[in-house]
Amino acid sequence: MTAPVDPTTTTAWADLQQDYDQLEPDLRGWFADDPERAERLSFDAADLHVDLSKNLIDDKIVADLVALGRAVDLEGRRAAMFAGEKINVTEGRAVLHTALRATPDQHIEVDGHDVVPDVHAELDKIYAFAERVRSGEWRGVTGKRIRAVVNIGIGGSDLGPVMVYEALRPYGQEGLELRFISNIDPTDLFEKTAYLDPEETLFIVVSKTFTTLETLTNARLAKSWLLDGLVAAAAVPEGDAEAQLKAISKHFVAVSTALEKVAEFGIDPANTFGFWDWVGGRYSVGSAVGTSVAVAIGPERFAEFLAGMHAMDEHFRTTPLERNVPALMGLLNVWDVNFLGAHTHAVLPYSQYLHRFPAYLQQLTMESNGKSVRWDGSPVTTETGEVFWGEPGTNGQHAFYQLIHQGTRIVPTDFIAFANPAHPLKDGAQDVHELFLANFFAQTAALAFGKTADEVRAEGTDESLVSARVFPGNRPSTSIMAPSLTPSVLGQLIALYEHITFTQGVVWGIDSFDQWGVELGKKLAIAVGPAIEGDADALAKQDPSTRGLIEYYRAHR
Ligand code: F6P
Repeated sequence: MTAPVDPTTTTAWADLQQDYDQLEPDLRGWFADDPERAERLSFDAADLHVDLSKNLIDDKIVADLVALGRAVDLEGRRAAMFAGEKINVTEGRAVLHTALRATPDQHIEVDGHDVVPDVHAELDKIYAFAERVRSGEWRGVTGKRIRAVVNIGIGGSDLGPVMVYEALRPYGQEGLELRFISNIDPTDLFEKTAYLDPEETLFIVVSKTFTTLETLTNARLAKSWLLDGLVAAAAVPEGDAEAQLKAISKHFVAVSTALEKVAEFGIDPANTFGFWDWVGGRYSVGSAVGTSVAVAIGPERFAEFLAGMHAMDEHFRTTPLERNVPALMGLLNVWDVNFLGAHTHAVLPYSQYLHRFPAYLQQLTMESNGKSVRWDGSPVTTETGEVFWGEPGTNGQHAFYQLIHQGTRIVPTDFIAFANPAHPLKDGAQDVHELFLANFFAQTAALAFGKTADEVRAEGTDESLVSARVFPGNRPSTSIMAPSLTPSVLGQLIALYEHITFTQGVVWGIDSFDQWGVELGKKLAIAVGPAIEGDADALAKQDPSTRGLIEYYRAHR
């Protein structure tokens, strides 16, 4: 693997530094002097329309960012990823979530093996299963139809499916509900199984490694919940191991890359859907990890979702950097982080259905680019991953927008909105979706153009209050619009952010596909177990703060 290029040593970086030194943000003036600005800095990718013009950029900065992308060989890395090269160097793996949405005529090889037929064979299996559940052919052990599908997983085995399910609720099947258990806090399982009938409930245990403590614990609890419920309903005789196994086979399926571990756990291999080590957990919603979603929305819609991802993959793979939306957005984020000094990035969907999208993006972006070393083990030479966060508009407007408008920190924002609502409701003569969109349009304008002291005075404001009511403006935002939130458009949005994340990782020279920082936490939690149970030696080995907390717990439990 070639060593990463240090971006700070490139001519493009020096040019960008000069751009920054000469920058005098003036979005009002820039728009006034340049009537073509909005058009020139707006781009289309598949069904997405992306307006970058309200960012603190001009044509020269964009050209220098593109030059930076070329200088760090973004195009070469992109080609390597799509070709199945092992660009996840710290884990020695290919990075091929794009193969999950490849068309059957494509050939993508890993170690000389074409993975595309495998992908489609697994999809066929998932689709057949989804149809059986949706049609009522797959029944619980007592012959009842499945009414609730409960996904048990965490991180990438949860955040993608739950986000997509919530986003595509209008495409769900009536009478079939999905629930998601992720946290090892027993409250999660308790609440998510509340009021469910075990005879009508199907669990999908999703774990790439099938070793994750949270997921395996919850799967065992779910097994007990199911069997206790079936025994109580006299559907399974108590202590009858064979009957129990039969019940489990009707109420548990699994998704994993570790099929032998699934079998050890007691789930029938015939009820198991696989994927591959070249799919990272946070990039896996288009694999069997999305099985619960395929059940909810059906195979046809799931195929549209994958096609949307593929459309964005093709845009990213083939479009020159000058018009390549994920590349431009990734490079823009580099500008914001490394030159403008942004520490965070807000994602603000004007769509209640996308309420889990910011949480999904937190794992995608921060587990990928929250790194301090490069892929050759050397330290990074710049700041890396920014903190992603957000909430849907308009709720966020009444919570944290104050800081974005008038605070001392720069917070680049992505606004996402759809021309057509899922539910065209009216309040008298008022189209409520229009009222909603009016907020979206107004917010991006207010951030960019602010409100001057003279404008505030012209409203008759008392002079003593003028400064508090001034909006400085020049707050960068990107607006993303699409006709409506369909499965395809959602797939496009996900792939867009995957490739933005990739672009930033390439500039910073980091492996965006490992997550060693999370592995430590998994080990530490297990190591602390004996101390909690009261083992004096284990307790003595804890630091004074942790020991004090454990002792508090033991005294108050
Ligand atoms: O949080 C760390 C992590 O490894 C994520 O990358 C992953 O999505 C999650 O745990 C769940 O892992 P698994 O699917 O193997 O249970």
